[in-house]
Amino acid sequence: MLFLNCINRCLRQAIQHKCKNLKCNVIIQKILDVQKNFHRSKCNTKRNKNKGGKTTTSGTKSGKKLVAMEEVIRFIKDCFIASCVPEDHACIMAKTLAACDYRGIMSHGMNRVEMYINMLKTNALDGCVKPVIKCETPATAWVDGKNGLGAVIAHFCMELAMGKAEEVGIGFVVAQHSNHYIVPGLYNLKAMEKGYIGINMSNTWPLMAPKGAKEPILGTNPISIGAPGADDHYLFDVATTQVAVGKLEVASRKGPTIPAGWALDKDGKPTTDVKKALEAKLLLPLGGIDFGYKGYGLAGAIDILTGVLGDSDFSKNIVFKEGVPMNLGQNFLVINPNMFAPDFKERLTCFNQTLRSCKVDNEKNKLMIPGDTEIQRMKEVVKAGGIEYTENQLQACEKLSKELDVEPLQFVC
Ligand SMILES: NC(=O)c1ccc[n+]([C@@H]2O[C@H](COP(=O)([O-])OP(=O)(O)OC[C@H]3O[C@@H](n4cnc5c(N)ncnc54)[C@H](O)[C@@H]3O)[C@@H](O)[C@H]2O)c1
Repeated sequence: MLFLNCINRCLRQAIQHKCKNLKCNVIIQKILDVQKNFHRSKCNTKRNKNKGGKTTTSGTKSGKKLVAMEEVIRFIKDCFIASCVPEDHACIMAKTLAACDYRGIMSHGMNRVEMYINMLKTNALDGCVKPVIKCETPATAWVDGKNGLGAVIAHFCMELAMGKAEEVGIGFVVAQHSNHYIVPGLYNLKAMEKGYIGINMSNTWPLMAPKGAKEPILGTNPISIGAPGADDHYLFDVATTQVAVGKLEVASRKGPTIPAGWALDKDGKPTTDVKKALEAKLLLPLGGIDFGYKGYGLAGAIDILTGVLGDSDFSKNIVFKEGVPMNLGQNFLVINPNMFAPDFKERLTCFNQTLRSCKVDNEKNKLMIPGDTEIQRMKEVVKAGGIEYTENQLQACEKLSKELDVEPLQFVC
């Protein structure tokens, strides 16, 4: 299997580096297709052996179509495996994407699978490669993601940073040649589970149009800061645009409009028409039209600490185009609170309680702290017994299952 993966990788690289001989490219692609079919038939045999559980293709008696968390993971994992991604990497992708839907971040779960599969199909990224450390000190590391899967690179970098924080109190890892890494908050959760503070961020392809700009000049560059408490936590995780572009995609699956203040049309005018917004891909920075310089400044700082620092692409050098590697930059900072004042977790809980004690105009709307909405959403999923997707999303899954010859999504009965 390893040998096959290796050949596969070489062939992909041959295509990526654009073999000038067209006939040669066609032959390479044919070999890749034969391999893909062989791999698929193996996966299907394995899957059929493991079939079972209370699932259906039609949904619950009430007509609700809920998908159990394990089934979401199974489906996504199968889609990646059918796209020639090794099982360990497929597993990381599936668990990370499914965790988004579980936490209510519907823009970055199932909604993103199609994008990844297309990127794999067009060899824009390599699902098989593992990241490597280019240079390292006790507190820092510079990592080459080798154009692999963003979540695989992110898990690797976060673990590396955590090991350093354990040893010397702080770990700062910068990755180059990376790809879309889903959402930063999930990697901070890894650090928080061990009692560390986690901070990580990424640059992305240009989608942000600051006031006066006629073109997008920075990405939606997300950032997350997370800290563990004694029995709770603080986990902030946002785009530096008013919303993530995935929220436009999810909105388009639901209806024709989006809230005012999210995006501009292609003439640079504010729009609530989701089609026009998706066509223009001009998102307003955090702070909107009047105060967007705040999101713009923050997104620029993120680009400096990722793309510029790690020698990845940045700003409009980043290209999101079929078959073209993105070369994104990310960084992962882990702080070990034990190296500072004692009892950090207890003070963090006290801090959270102080925020929650804020006087509010309506007692029903108690002040929430970052991370609360996700905890609430997970409780709802557990209570309902599964995740509910829009009809449009389910159709997209059906299409994927046919295209990749993967068992269709099963619903909770
Ligand atoms: N990988 C990428 O390239 C990329 C790019 C952009 C965004 N994203 C991700 O997309 C997701 C959505 O981004 P977004 O900017 O639309 O997020 P959002 O506007 O939904 O905000 C989410 C954050 O705000 C907190 N929050 C929500 N309501 C709150 C309240 N009332 N009080 C206090 N805190 C509250 C949540 O706990 C969470 O931390 C994020 O996870 C972001 O990281 C990823």
